Amino acid sequence: MNTQRLKIAISNIVEDNNTSISDKLQNICTYLKQEIDYYHWVGFYFKNGDKKELKLAQFAGEQTDHVIIPFGKGICGQVAKRNKKMIVPDVSTQDNYISCGWKVKSEIVIPIFVNKKNIGQIDIDSHNVDPFSKDDELILEYICEQVSQLNIQQL
Ligand code: SME
Repeated sequence: MNTQRLKIAISNIVEDNNTSISDKLQNICTYLKQEIDYYHWVGFYFKNGDKKELKLAQFAGEQTDHVIIPFGKGICGQVAKRNKKMIVPDVSTQDNYISCGWKVKSEIVIPIFVNKKNIGQIDIDSHNVDPFSKDDELILEYICEQVSQLNIQQL
């Protein structure tokens, strides 16, 4: 993975003055799915108002039924509750997991913090077992930092 090239491309998407926040988030999803061959689904979930649940925002990949995820449920819900990233190399080992289809073998979810508050997350599904390295964590954390600087309230 060429992290430097990815970082520059992501910064360009985020700093583009001619796009809305939702378009920037969509462009990040589309770009990552296109660039990284083992990213088969890329999406953003954000806290749904005052509710203890996540709501799906932009994504690239197949449609999912899991538009609303209660805090604590699945990998995404656990990240929302514990404020900690989760890297799951093999989803078949997880009891608390919401399946988005039999093809998905692994998942990585990184929280997005604004003023130390967990406002949402980026979620990646892969059809490969154990595909994620430290570089994936670093690039996704970089993206979450960039996204935290957008005014997500205006979505
Ligand atoms: N697998 C997730 C649900 C969301 S989908 O991956 C799009 C989970 O266990 O929370």
